[in-house]
Parts: sequence; C-alpha cells; structure tokens
Amino acid sequence: MRHLTDFGDMTREEWDTLYERASRIIDAPQEHMDACRGKVMASLFYEPSTRTNFSFQTAMLRLGGTVFGFADPNSSSTAKGESLKDTVKMVSGYADVVVMRTPWEGAAKAASLYSNVPVINAGDGGHMHPTQTTTDLTTITKLRGSVDGLSIGLCGDLKNGRTVHSLIKAMEKFRDIRFFLISPRELAIPDYMRTFMKEKGMRYMEVTGLEAVIPQLDVLYMTRIQRERFVDPLEYERNKGVYILTRRKLHRAKENLLVMHPLPRVDEIAVDVDDDPRAVYFQQARYGMFSRMALLEDLANQPRYETVPPVEIGTKPVCTNPRCITQTQPYLPPLIRKIGGKDCCGFCDAQLR
Ligand code: NCD
Repeated sequence: MRHLTDFGDMTREEWDTLYERASRIIDAPQEHMDACRGKVMASLFYEPSTRTNFSFQTAMLRLGGTVFGFADPNSSSTAKGESLKDTVKMVSGYADVVVMRTPWEGAAKAASLYSNVPVINAGDGGHMHPTQTTTDLTTITKLRGSVDGLSIGLCGDLKNGRTVHSLIKAMEKFRDIRFFLISPRELAIPDYMRTFMKEKGMRYMEVTGLEAVIPQLDVLYMTRIQRERFVDPLEYERNKGVYILTRRKLHRAKENLLVMHPLPRVDEIAVDVDDDPRAVYFQQARYGMFSRMALLEDLANQPRYETVPPVEIGTKPVCTNPRCITQTQPYLPPLIRKIGGKDCCGFCDAQLR
C-alpha cells in the first residue's frame, strides 16, 4: 500500500497486518516512541476537525515524529488561488507523509497522483473517510475479537456520512456481515453504494425505524445528520433530531452490543447512554489515535518517490457531481472506474451520465 485514499484500495491481508500493528501499539505504545523519529507529517485540513486532526498529530508525536500544516485553509495559499496539484507537489517536497481533509470529493485521490510521498485521506467531503474506518475496525476487533459474522446497524445520515460509506466499503472484505441501514428515506445511502453492495453480494436491509431492529444488532453505529452537506436547509430541518438513542431504547439490545459513533455527536445519542458499558465511542476515539499510529509507522517510513509518473492532462471534467474535485481542478485526468458494470468517476465514484 502506498497511499490510503479509499479503504477499498487495501487488501484484506494489508488490513490484517495493519490491525496487528495497531493492536501491538495499543498493548505497548511506549515501544513505538521512536518508530518515526526524524519523520515529518504534513497536515492539510481544509475543513473543521477535532478528533481526526488531533489524533493524527498526537499519533505522529507519540511515534517521535514532527508535524506541520494548517487547520484553516484561509491561512494557506489556496486562498490565493493555488491549485491542489501545486500545493501537494510543494508540500510533498517538505514532508514524509501528507494527511489531508477537504470538502471536495476525490481530493485525496487527486493529490495522490502528484505526490512524492504517501497521501492519507482524512475525509473528502461526503465521500470517504478511510482512517475512521481503520479506527472503527480496530475498535470492533479489539473489543469483539473479530468483525466476521456481525450484524451491524448504521443509523442516521447515510447519504452524506462519509464514515458510513467507508465502513460499508471495508466490510466487503469480511465474511457473513449483515447490515441494517437505518435512515430517513431522504438520507438513504447513495446509489453508488447500493450498486457496490449488490455487486459484492453484501446482505443489507434498508429501514427507517431504529427501535425495531436494535435487538438484532451486535454493533450500532450512530451518526450525526451532516448539516454542512445540505444544499437545501429545509431538508436539514426536516431530518434533524430524527434518531435519538436513549438508555431506555437499549433495554432490548444485546448485552454485548457495541454502541459506536465517529463523533462529534449532536443529539443522536442521549447523554444517559454514556455510562452504559456498551457505549464505546470515547474508547473508539482513543483507538483512532493508535490505528493512525500504525498507519503512520508504515507509510511515513516508505522511501520517497523522487519521480512521480506523468499524469494525463484533462481538459474538462467528465463528472457532473458538483462536489467532485474535478469541478474545480480542470487539469485532472478523466479517470473512470466501473462499479457494478457502470461507468463511475475515478475520483468521487459518482455515476457518470
Ligand atoms: C466524522 C467526519 O468528519 O466525517 N468525524 C470524524 O472524523 N470523527 C463524522 C462527522 O463529522 O459526523
């Protein structure tokens, strides 16, 4: 593995190796305090973040490495009109690994085409968030022993929630997973995800009610309604507060259920759930730091690519998704990938029309 822009790019063996490393770090973090000594991580955050940004930074510091970057794009040259390509070419000349979060879908993939060092996607718009997925899988495996065979409820804004898309994509690599996709109809998973699940023969059921399915679940993954992604504010108003998990609703849940949440929470988990032993979201956030340590230990220590293969220069975007990175970076090549036999954008996965 050279970059991590989409969990789907990782093989099951690569994941198993990464998990083994994360698990060793959880058990004895002090043994890794020099693993990235002398290495430098660039942290480019074009969108707000607390956990992901802090956990990446602390992960690198705990490995003995150092960090530079920005958390406010207005303090970068993007504000002066610099292209993503130029920013990445330059930053990858300074750093050993680049971590980036953007509101544009497919941006990390785009950056990876030009970077001399590994690029890690820390969230690209409503598209993917693969290091949240390494966090989630680390948590499930450490606490349940295995991911295979579990019934997993994903609840909330499944349309805009990138953590959900990433997790579903990853689950294709595991056996006997059953998904309950719990969302209002307006906020159901995007078509490309549905096509993906069908193509891979994944078992899933789309429902609108949370309480009816709770007793069947091994993992309940709550998510926030992603206010900043709504084009129509009325749509947000209609859907906010639609699911609220309370202690009472957990009465019929399994004793060993894991209640997870990528955080930040708004109101979808009542505070009275926090003290239930099944609530593992704060532990999940801590495991996120360890799983990022495992990832950085691997990627920041890879040899630098002095030359990057030339990339075809595009002329106009083939993708019509308004949030796709190709809309603002016209030089990007016309990348197309097949999902379920359909032509999709190689950056943001949206189906091409
Ligand atoms: C998530 C994100 O940014 O997508 N947060 C995180 O990284 N832990 C979830 C969210 O913002 O709702």
